[in-house]
Amino acid sequence: MWWDAIQQVLIPEAELRQRVQILGQAITDDYRGEDLVLIPVLKGALVFGADLARAIALPLTLDAVCLSSYGHQPVSSGTVRLRKDLDDSIAGKHALIVEDIIDTGFTLQALWRHLQARGPATLRTCVLLDKRARRRVDVPVHYRGFEVPDAFVVGYGLDYQGRYRNLPFIGILHPECFQEAPPAQSPPCRRS
Ligand code: PRP
Repeated sequence: MWWDAIQQVLIPEAELRQRVQILGQAITDDYRGEDLVLIPVLKGALVFGADLARAIALPLTLDAVCLSSYGHQPVSSGTVRLRKDLDDSIAGKHALIVEDIIDTGFTLQALWRHLQARGPATLRTCVLLDKRARRRVDVPVHYRGFEVPDAFVVGYGLDYQGRYRNLPFIGILHPECFQEAPPAQSPPCRRS
């Protein structure tokens, strides 16, 4: 398999699909009749955001932001960089941030403050994976997919040094690959 760097499948594809449908239904029920703007946080939320948007049966709009705090490092730098802002105003609208994972919480906290200042009618968060054990700052999570252990998870949008975002499941990266920490742009970890 091209994903031989994966030690264990943590959340299989079918389970992800099922949970995304449940989240989509809850959001549909909560925002019926409202002007909803879905805000996926790129790049990690690219896959989840695309699936979630299609699981919401409302005439929503989509406006992505791109943030980065990890770069190619395995730990958060603590400094969140806004690489791409919203295209349109969210003033008076119901804004819903869509994140692939909350870890330290630095990214979501920075975005929360940034968007709150734009005057939305409401601001909420929908997070696929919650790595609660590593939280450093408190941020509200209104819709949560799964709680995950403190392991290096990749797939379904999440990466390690830019790779594995296209895995259809959430997997735990093999420690060998993670500890070797090959420099950015190096070939993917091969274990066989
Ligand atoms: C990842 C992830 C979240 C953030 C969560 O982004 O997509 O945005 O880290 O971590 P935190 O709670 O510790 O801030 P990353 O900076 O790796 O960029 P990416 O989305 O392009 O992968």
